[in-house]
This record gives sequence, C-alpha cells and structure tokens, in this order.
Amino acid sequence: MPEDDRKDATRDAVAREIDTAVDEQVSGLPPEQAEALREKIRLRVRDEIERDLRARTVSERREAARLAREARKREIHTEEGETFLRFNRNFRFQHMVMFSSVILLIITGMPLKFPNFILSRFVINFWGGIQNSTIVHRIGAGMLIYFMVHHFLYTILTRDGRRDFVLLLPKLGDAKDIAHNIRHFLGKVPDKPRFGRFSYIEKFDYWAVYWGCIIMIGSGLFLWFETDVLRFLPKYSLDVAHEMHSDEAMLATLAIVIWHFYNVHFNPDRFPGTLLWWHGRMSEHEMKEEHPLELEEIVARRAKQAVEGGNR
Ligand code: HEM
Repeated sequence: MPEDDRKDATRDAVAREIDTAVDEQVSGLPPEQAEALREKIRLRVRDEIERDLRARTVSERREAARLAREARKREIHTEEGETFLRFNRNFRFQHMVMFSSVILLIITGMPLKFPNFILSRFVINFWGGIQNSTIVHRIGAGMLIYFMVHHFLYTILTRDGRRDFVLLLPKLGDAKDIAHNIRHFLGKVPDKPRFGRFSYIEKFDYWAVYWGCIIMIGSGLFLWFETDVLRFLPKYSLDVAHEMHSDEAMLATLAIVIWHFYNVHFNPDRFPGTLLWWHGRMSEHEMKEEHPLELEEIVARRAKQAVEGGNR
C-alpha cells in the first residue's frame, strides 16, 4: 500500500476509536451539551494526531537522509579500492617549496605594504624589526626562485614534467567545460563536466602561479638590486617595478585565499581539505568523481598492456 494511503487508513482507524470512546464519555449528557463537548474533544484530538504525524514525517525524513548518507559512505569506502599516484615525489617537493615560500613572502611582504596595521606591527616585531623582516622576505624570495628553476628543469628534463606541461595548456574544450559547469551549477544539466588529468580549474591555478612568479621575481629583483638597476635604467622603471610588485602581491594573495582555498579546502566535496599534496595519491572514487577521463585512459592502457603481455 502506498505511504499516503497507509497514513490515511491509520488516521481513520484512530478517529473511529476516538469517536467510540467519546460517545461513552458523553452518554449521560443532554444532546446539545454532548455534541458541543464531542466537537471540542474531536478538534483537540485531531490537532494532537496531526502534530504527532508531522513529527513522525520529519523524523522519518531525517532518518532516511541519515541512512542514505551512511549508505553513500559505505559505497565510497567499498569503491575506494585502488589508489592512483597523481603527483610524483619530485612534483610534491616542488609544490611544498612553492607554498612554503609563498606563505613566507605574504607574511613578510604584506606588513611592508600596510605598515600601520596592528597585525603588521605584530609580524614585524615577531621577526625582530623591519630589517630582519625584509631579510626573511629575501629568504622566501630565494626559495621561490629555486622553485621556479627546479620546475623549469623538471618540465624540460622529465617525461612526467613534459607530459603535464602539455596537458596543462588551455584548449577549446576548457571553454566548453566552463560553459557546461555553469549550466550544471544553475541546475540546467544534471551531470557535471567530465575532466581529464587537469580541469580548467587546475589549469587556471597553474598558469596564475606561473604568471605570478614571473611578475613577482622580475619586479622583486628590481627592488632587491635597485642601485644596480639605477645604473642602467631610469628611476621610473623602479617605480613601475614597485607598483607591479605591490599590486600583483595583493592579487596573488586574494587569488590564493579566494580561488585556491575554495577549490581545494572549502568546496563541500573537499572540505576540510585533502592530503594529496603530501602523499600524492587519489582514491578510485576521487578519480571517478574528479578525473573520470584520465581514469578511463589508465584502465584502457592497462587492458592494452595486459593483451600485449598475453600475446608475447
Ligand atoms: C608571492 C610572492 C611575493 C609576495 C606576495 C611579495 C609581497 C611583497 C610586498 C607586499 C611588498 C611590499 C610592497 C610595497 O611596499 O608596497 C614586497 C616588497 C619586496 N619584495 Fe616581495 N613579494 C613576493 C615575492 C618576492 C620575490 C620573489 C622577491 C625577490 C626576487 C621579492 C623582493 C622584494 C623586495 C626586495 C621588496 C622590498 C623590501 C624592502 O623594502 O626591503 N619579493 N613584497
């Protein structure tokens, strides 16, 4: 029997039982008084039954949602199975150097841009004064320059580096994915776009860092070696470098806090974050959700290798 019919039948049965009980109660009274009392009791009891049914529906709904969540968790767990190496050790090392240096550079750079803020004074005092703070900024700069050189060599000299660089180049398909994802967020299409090894979000992250490093290292070196620069170039080139450094620092900080943190930490599918940057591995479930096309390629490649191995 459907759920609603079952509830109606229960309600009717209860109402009949109540009527019988009420009839017994009012049996000795004059007819008018008996009818008034019967109506009053009926109303009160109906209210109570409806309240009870409503409470039951809400708790049933909650219970169903809880069971669905648990089933989903079990499904994820059993699906997890194999894990896939997404980032090799070399790449993870580069990423760690990069984010440590950027954090250090933001912490030591922003107080120079906003020296009157209380937090800025606190940070500058923490390093033991402005002089030390700028030295730490230069240490962070050294780390970032090292990262850039390392990454450049990695891209040229290693097979994984060359492959990832090519896969990170923007393509027409990315524009289609963006349009598809917007339609998905608006509820117009049920499925989200199916990404390969890098989605347009990761490509944006990568090229924003690339661009940011070139601007920050270029302009930072101008500021660092200003007396040498002034021997060859006019003063306004230094002013331009200062403006670029200061504004790009702000842009980079906001991009990290808003774009990057949302995508890797605060996005509901990811919250509170992932340890991928540490172990470099992704579960089968995550691959299916986030990089289904890459997973299909891996599976197809393995099948091909198995056939070739079998034929030998
Ligand atoms: C994400 C990377 C970086 C951020 C967020 C950053 C941030 C900043 C900020 C906000 C300032 C203060 C600008 C102002 O006064 O308006 C600054 C100053 C400076 N930055 Fe950076 N910076 C970064 C990378 C670098 C790099 C790579 C270098 C060197 C190659 C560098 C060298 C300098 C120098 C020399 C100064 C001037 C410090 C002084 O007054 O002695 N920065 N930085």
